[in-house]
Amino acid sequence: MTEKDAGAAGQAAPEPLLVAEKVVSGYIPEVNILNGCDLTLAEGEVVAVIGPNGAGKSTLVKTMFGLIPVRSGSIRLKDAPITNLTAHELVSRGVGYVPQTQNVFPSLSVEENLEMGLYLRPKQWNKRFEFVCGLFPLLGERRKQKAGALSGGERQMVAMGRALMMDPSVLMLDEPTAGLSPKFQDEVFEQVKQINSSGVSIVMVEQNARRCLQIADRGYVLDQGRNAYTGTGAELLHDPKVIELYLGTLAKVD
Ligand SMILES: Nc1ncnc2c1ncn2[C@@H]1O[C@H](COP(=O)(O)OP(=O)(O)OP(=O)(O)O)[C@@H](O)[C@H]1O
Ligand SMILES: [Mg+2]
Repeated sequence: MTEKDAGAAGQAAPEPLLVAEKVVSGYIPEVNILNGCDLTLAEGEVVAVIGPNGAGKSTLVKTMFGLIPVRSGSIRLKDAPITNLTAHELVSRGVGYVPQTQNVFPSLSVEENLEMGLYLRPKQWNKRFEFVCGLFPLLGERRKQKAGALSGGERQMVAMGRALMMDPSVLMLDEPTAGLSPKFQDEVFEQVKQINSSGVSIVMVEQNARRCLQIADRGYVLDQGRNAYTGTGAELLHDPKVIELYLGTLAKVD
């Protein structure tokens, strides 16, 4: 049983919040990368997206965040269709996204990076800054420092903090622990749990698949742009096929 399963045992099934159905998308005309992906994130969940390099994990979150056009299929947020809305519109509807790479402005200070996250609602600065610094006290201490001068783990806090400035109901994280030392990776997983406990539902793409499935309510294994396996974190962690095909090879050596 995962940490989350233990907590959720006996509770009613939560409402679907973000639903992607049969999504087809790609970068180059007539070359589809996603070939009919499904993903459901229910209210309060952490959902893991794992799979080999090039499987389409980043493409899936980018598509759900409106950065790549949906060629067919649909995406909805609660009961509202959001297929092919722009990222800007999605942010104003409570969807946050932290990209896999280049997710801070290195020449700007920590504070300026967080301000960029709140450009749609500048009046809420005090309240949101306090919230984000409650989660990541270091960001308050380093508020005047340039983001480019921070360590990888600290930069990841800035990136997550920036997405949290808009008080999202859904946060999509693309490989937040990539390139971090095991100690920092563990901190990020703890922070993700804390963000989730504060009421934010989370889709998390991860290369550290085992650790991610331990904190996830459910997981999706993508392979070649398709759903290969789906289940609770615990089911996937113990599925011999998933272990053989994905968990073994995904245990990257740092
Ligand atoms: N900007 C792009 N233009 C064209 N093709 C792209 C682009 N980005 C990704 N692709 C292709 O889409 C496929 C899926 O890439 P994607 O980045 O979604 O994989 P991923 O599962 O996130 O992999 P990783 O674990 O390496 O991050 C790959 O074949 C990749 O070459
Ligand atoms: Mg990726």
